[in-house]
Amino acid sequence: MASRRTVLHMGALAAGVATPALVTGQAFAQQAFASSASDRSADDRRRYRRPLVIGHRGASGYRPEHTLGSYELAARMGADFIEPDLVITRDGVLVVRHEPEIGGTTDVAARPEFASRKTTKLLDGVPTTGWFVEDFTLAELKTLRAVERLPQVRQHNTLYNGLFEVPTFKEVLDLRVKLSKELEREIGVYPETKHPTYFRAQGRPLEDALVRTLREYGLDRRDAPAFVQSFEATNLLMLHEKYRLLTPKVFLTSASGTPFNDPRSYADYLTPAALHDLSQYVAGIGPDKNQVIPRNADGSLGTPSSLVADAHAAGLVVHPYTLRAENTFLPANLRVGTDATAYGKAIDEQLAFLRAGVDGVFTDQADIGVLSRKLHLGS
Ligand code: G3P
Ligand code: CA
Repeated sequence: MASRRTVLHMGALAAGVATPALVTGQAFAQQAFASSASDRSADDRRRYRRPLVIGHRGASGYRPEHTLGSYELAARMGADFIEPDLVITRDGVLVVRHEPEIGGTTDVAARPEFASRKTTKLLDGVPTTGWFVEDFTLAELKTLRAVERLPQVRQHNTLYNGLFEVPTFKEVLDLRVKLSKELEREIGVYPETKHPTYFRAQGRPLEDALVRTLREYGLDRRDAPAFVQSFEATNLLMLHEKYRLLTPKVFLTSASGTPFNDPRSYADYLTPAALHDLSQYVAGIGPDKNQVIPRNADGSLGTPSSLVADAHAAGLVVHPYTLRAENTFLPANLRVGTDATAYGKAIDEQLAFLRAGVDGVFTDQADIGVLSRKLHLGS
């Protein structure tokens, strides 16, 4: 088990959601991973054998998602990977947002100069109204500022509304390089192609820019500190077969439905035989966490499915999404009190997934991921 002193220190990290957590997180990262340059790669290899802490949209529990401030905080809290979702501008630049529609995470609705850009489009078959990233040049997008997506749940994060730009993918990769040097450990990057079929239909495919950028940054290799993820298996197959991209790939799955424009359901892709087929072009799967540990009828955490064992038998790693500390996202038996926005037993949830054998977790609170892993491993 971790020493009481360490646990108390990391508990403080988990609680420290304001700017001071950034300083404390930096101290922790330096303490935990301090090493000389000569043995750093061996350290990195050892670290990658542990379950990974993937900073979901950065440290989105503490900062508006997909901002450089969010990614930096996740890295300083000890995340092994930072996770940018990728979309593309009118002039073909990859930028980082969770979806093409940018009204929910920027201040575009308050900008009269862009009022006429509001429109309705079919996004993966769903009529969607708002402002779309592919209708903005990068220069226009850079005049906007990020805002908190979930102000009702994460009121604290609204403190940072208006402080951060929408980053380009290259800015995230530059930040990764800078922080890896400063923290003396390799910070991995876990980009997701968002709605790749949609963007292709809009005349702005993601793949050319993605592959070009990964190559420019030396990440097109099997041992790159990177995973490319997508909810569309056909997109990953295209990156593998057509683009010959070597970067490890991860297929994201939903608990129901099918990938867009794909006759096969997610469930079909997760049978033992299908997992073996997937392993010809992906390194892992990123399932909805409820596919790993389903919930009981009363909403409490159930018992693990066979998914982790099946995936491991096919040689695939398993990185479920998304571990979040607030009651509203937790199983019924792990909630504390009645305030949906208060923290529940988030460490217990993470420990349950680690005990189920997952190889990493996407989490909005990287500090809680680091603490849970330490408790799980006992060091
Ligand atoms: O990429 C893992 C997880 O992020 C998938 O869900 O919707 O948060 O991108 P989403
Ligand atoms: Ca994602």
